[in-house]
Amino acid sequence: MIKDIDHILIERGAISDRVRQLGQQIMEDLNEIDEETEIVLVAVMTGSIIFVADLMRHLNKKIRISLMTASSYVGKSMETTGDPTLGKLPTVKGKHVLLVDDILDSGKTLTRIREELNEQEPASLHSCVLLRKTIDSAMSVPCEYVGFDIEDEFVVGYGLDYDGYYRNFPDIGVIVP
Ligand code: IMP
Ligand code: MG
Repeated sequence: MIKDIDHILIERGAISDRVRQLGQQIMEDLNEIDEETEIVLVAVMTGSIIFVADLMRHLNKKIRISLMTASSYVGKSMETTGDPTLGKLPTVKGKHVLLVDDILDSGKTLTRIREELNEQEPASLHSCVLLRKTIDSAMSVPCEYVGFDIEDEFVVGYGLDYDGYYRNFPDIGVIVP
């Protein structure tokens, strides 16, 4: 194990089981909607890189994948700065949108992205996160699909980073304080 990782919080097998379940749940909902309207999965980079790659392979549908970037940390901080910087947004007018991110923490990133996408008047907008911290700020943001609710601690792995590192760690772990 990478020496900076103190302990594993969610092991890879549990992640893959839950991602499969999320995919099935999303598929059931997608099967309800009209066939003509385009479906676009908007993945928030870089944290959702592994999650979205696994999740989309459970979506047996004709969908487009769009990537956008968002960042809310300055250097080696474990606190979000409050005001996320968003990259170019995909065009979603009139489309069904599934927004995918790694984790809901302060909730500011997802809230901002939802607001900006909604301004384009998509046909529908649903959000999916792998992790959600059980704190008021995160729990109060609308999010239709949640993988795991976790304690308020800083986690890395399966795409999530600290200072750009540990994204390649296959489990979700807590780093040494
Ligand atoms: P929020 O805007 O505070 O909800 O934070 C959203 C972004 O901060 C997420 O998309 C993550 O990239 C990052 N983030 C928040 N908490 C953690 C964590 O515990 N580990 C790694 N990244 C995190
Ligand atoms: Mg992120």
